[in-house]
Amino acid sequence: MNLKGLSLIRLEENTTIKPFDCGNLSPQIDLNDFLFDKAKSYLKEHLATTFIIESNEKTFAYYSILNDSLKVEQLDFASKSAFQRFLKKLVSHKKRHLESFPAIKIGRLAVSKDIEVSGLGKMIINSIIDYAINLNEKCACKIITVDAYSESLGFYEKMGFEYFTENDAEESERQMFLDLTPIIKTFQETSKSIK
Ligand SMILES: CC(C)(COP(=O)(O)OP(=O)(O)OC[C@H]1O[C@@H](n2cnc3c(N)ncnc32)[C@H](O)[C@@H]1OP(=O)(O)O)[C@@H](O)C(=O)NCCC(=O)NCCS
Repeated sequence: MNLKGLSLIRLEENTTIKPFDCGNLSPQIDLNDFLFDKAKSYLKEHLATTFIIESNEKTFAYYSILNDSLKVEQLDFASKSAFQRFLKKLVSHKKRHLESFPAIKIGRLAVSKDIEVSGLGKMIINSIIDYAINLNEKCACKIITVDAYSESLGFYEKMGFEYFTENDAEESERQMFLDLTPIIKTFQETSKSIK
């Protein structure tokens, strides 16, 4: 996509937030309100860091990220075997006693409704993945988590996110995750073959 004229900035306390609207549905109203009413106080209280993609005139998209820790016991699995399958998929046998996974959470992510052919959402997810890969050089991070609105489940599925459980299938928000281990492995193998 053409990013000419767009900048990526980190929201600061003195940032002037340019006009933004990601839609009229209730989840989207919440996302609009967060940017204008809450993002700065989350920054001040170290609860979430917000990044904005903007032109001179308007906000094209924004996202907020924060550190997370996924406590396995908090996940609501349908059965013990579903829980065991989940753990087996994520970690090798000997470490399966782990109680939590280090994570980065996508607190909010929204793209302006005025952008017809976007690609921005995908670009943002890729930049969060890049950030998480680099973070792993200094501080381990196993997964990216998101509580996804039902309207955006298809988007996160396309980005490779999975559901923790089917128990929240009827909820308005579902817990999803992206396992970074296979992505980092592929990244390392690709880097080696380029050298
Ligand atoms: C969900 C959202 C962030 C996606 O951003 P976007 O810039 O429109 O997405 P992209 O154009 O990068 O789409 C990437 C891929 O996902 C698909 N996709 C995008 N939104 C989708 C949706 N709601 N359902 C299914 N697929 C979707 C696109 O078709 C594209 O597929 P492709 O790679 O095969 O071409 C954006 O539509 C949005 O802000 N929606 C309103 C707020 C919201 O729901 N945010 C999520 C909060 S949890």
